[in-house]
Amino acid sequence: MSLKGRNFLTLKDFTKDEINEFLDLAADLKEKKKNGVDIAKYHGKNVALIFEKTSTRTRCAFEVAAHDMGMCTTYLDPAGSQIGKKESIADTARVLGRMFDGIEYRGFGQEIVEDLAKYSGVPVWNGLTNEYHPTQMLADLLTIKEHLGSLEGKKLVYMGDARYNMGNSLMIACAKMGMNFVACAPGRYFPNETLIEECKAFAKESGATLTFSEDVMEGTKDADIIYTDVWVSMGEPDKVWEERIKDLTPYKVTMDVMNNAKSNAIFLHCLPAFHDLKTKIGKEMGERFHLTEMEVTDEVFEKYADVVFDEAENRMHTIKAVMVATLGRERL
Ligand code: CP
Ligand code: NVA
Repeated sequence: MSLKGRNFLTLKDFTKDEINEFLDLAADLKEKKKNGVDIAKYHGKNVALIFEKTSTRTRCAFEVAAHDMGMCTTYLDPAGSQIGKKESIADTARVLGRMFDGIEYRGFGQEIVEDLAKYSGVPVWNGLTNEYHPTQMLADLLTIKEHLGSLEGKKLVYMGDARYNMGNSLMIACAKMGMNFVACAPGRYFPNETLIEECKAFAKESGATLTFSEDVMEGTKDADIIYTDVWVSMGEPDKVWEERIKDLTPYKVTMDVMNNAKSNAIFLHCLPAFHDLKTKIGKEMGERFHLTEMEVTDEVFEKYADVVFDEAENRMHTIKAVMVATLGRERL
């Protein structure tokens, strides 16, 4: 089995064994980092990091991982390149493919990363699109393994807008890994039917189950993992806030939700999170809609903060595993 030369665009493209290979490699790289083992064996390799949407974790994870590996990085910010404005994705890909050994892309439609992969001829890594966030999935799976020991048979409940990148990706990850996925949201926030059908096929192979529930107490009962994300994603118009707050407030992660889950259940969040009003947008929405928090209460967030920040740290170790595996692990 070789992951060398592969793109990393969505977990749909990988088998359960391949996903486990990424996770085992990430755990090994994490151990090496903690023990100060030098892995700077990728001198001479260069990677491009394209961000058409903003980022803290994903950008830092790619940069730190690349530098630990001895590689050079070039960061292209949301305003600082010709991409899409003066130059097509196909032309950009053909330019970058001549200079770089790998390309990370964060931005809008999945077709953009697919085109980058098609035309660049080097591994392309999806750092988040509207549809998927696959590097986040590896960090989440690694964190679940670290805290709960294994993945198979674990019940993961995603509360919130399950039609977007996080809900979609968690459903795929659970379906691939034999976990029990629950989308807990109003019906119109469930993932689209085509993706559900694809995931049902993965689930049949892995023994996973997929459940869609509008009922908070039923949906979260005996869960092993409660997961949420912001109610309005990057790139969405300001006008959707009011409707989202109204629709999704009943699906906020509260202590009642956590107490309804298993006694050793964990809470995960990809971050950033609106668990208080200490952000510009949080403060503005707090004043506009008379709120003190949004998708998760501050009490839940702080109680599970150690797990959530392990999850954030694991972005770096798992992204490093993706680069090592696709650029070739023989150098390690
Ligand atoms: N979770 C995540 O992708 O965070 P950033 O938006 O900060 O990269
Ligand atoms: N759904 C969020 C995820 C952020 C990591 C967004 O797309 O903004």
